[in-house]
Amino acid sequence: MRRENYFNKSPGRKHLFSPGTFSAQRYIMNDFKVTPWEVTGDIDYDELIVRFGTKKIDDALMERLAGYGPVHLLLRRGIVYSQRDMEWILNEYDKGNKFFLYTGRGPSGNIHLGHLMPWIFTKYIQDTFGANLYFQMTDDEKFLFNDSLQLKDTNRLAYENALDVIALGFDVKKTKIVVDTECIDTLYPMALEVAKRVTFSTTKAVFGFENSNNIGEIFYTSIQAAPAFMEKILYDKATPCLIPCGIDQDPHFRITRDVAAMMGLPKPALLHTKMFPGLTGGDKMSSSVPGSTIYTTDSPKEVKKKIGNAFTGGAVTVEEQRKNGGKPEVCAVYKYNFFLFESNDEVLADLADRCRKGEVLCGECKKALTEKLVKFLEGHQERREKAKDQIHDFMLHENL
Ligand code: TRP
Repeated sequence: MRRENYFNKSPGRKHLFSPGTFSAQRYIMNDFKVTPWEVTGDIDYDELIVRFGTKKIDDALMERLAGYGPVHLLLRRGIVYSQRDMEWILNEYDKGNKFFLYTGRGPSGNIHLGHLMPWIFTKYIQDTFGANLYFQMTDDEKFLFNDSLQLKDTNRLAYENALDVIALGFDVKKTKIVVDTECIDTLYPMALEVAKRVTFSTTKAVFGFENSNNIGEIFYTSIQAAPAFMEKILYDKATPCLIPCGIDQDPHFRITRDVAAMMGLPKPALLHTKMFPGLTGGDKMSSSVPGSTIYTTDSPKEVKKKIGNAFTGGAVTVEEQRKNGGKPEVCAVYKYNFFLFESNDEVLADLADRCRKGEVLCGECKKALTEKLVKFLEGHQERREKAKDQIHDFMLHENL
């Protein structure tokens, strides 16, 4: 059996920490951290593939995906960039063995655009493959891992956040939202099967847990693993499972995959996304950096203000920018267009080109993006209101 790399380190990095060498110094200065609970530093996404032991989505897989329907821009642009066992799950699909989808949300606050990205992608997979989706709301996780949140807060947020999920247009006949504390009867027996097969030393190695972590945190990964076997739980069927998620969630699913093999169930396949950029120039849009985040409930005025203050790749003066051009590769406004808001590849390439030549200035780009975001949010907010009438139909209830 092939062992997964639990240790979050690339085999090729042995020498990087040898003391005193220049490259070691440089590496440490540039180091970054990606765990389910913390993302810091400038992320080197290729290095992450090596550290986590996943596979890059290559041209062959991309071509194969194109055979099922138009390739989503998040795939085309390398934002959904890494995978586990996709070839296998497509082989099964081709043989008539359909997969189901599983993804989730830790309800710790309001939803921002960064959260929507993997869900928009999940909806595309649901539409393309006609797959069932189980969407986990981990009100338990956010209670356990956050000192300032009570269970009643995270549970309320699970329902608030569910409105944003529903607003994206998931098929009500094929989608179930699973709120952990309310569906625990369904999840618990499978969580126990998982927990029995994961040692404390594994969770320490994978997540860096220490003696001071509370015991709920140590157990939690078995709750996040359980929905990967949802159709085993509900229908006693070993249906393959595909999990689209941020690459930061991969450590949970490395464990899940090892345990699946021990239980004689199919390992879940994965598609990983990069982190959605913040408006202030960071790698990840984060609720803890004010102004770096656009919430789905923001008003047009708030959007205008936040985009107005966004970090761009422009020069200090207009004259200088006309002469030397801007840098789209570091610009938050450009990244927003790249990640979600300009779907036409030619228009996007032209925008980058004109920016580099100094033909388009930041004010113009900010205005155009603001208009697009306001329009997107208007539609989203309307659907979010309507979702209040649909939410009951989307929830997985105990008595089903
Ligand atoms: N732990 C995730 C978070 O904090 C929530 C989550 C639960 C999840 N199950 C998942 C995310 C499956 C992706 C896929 O947001």
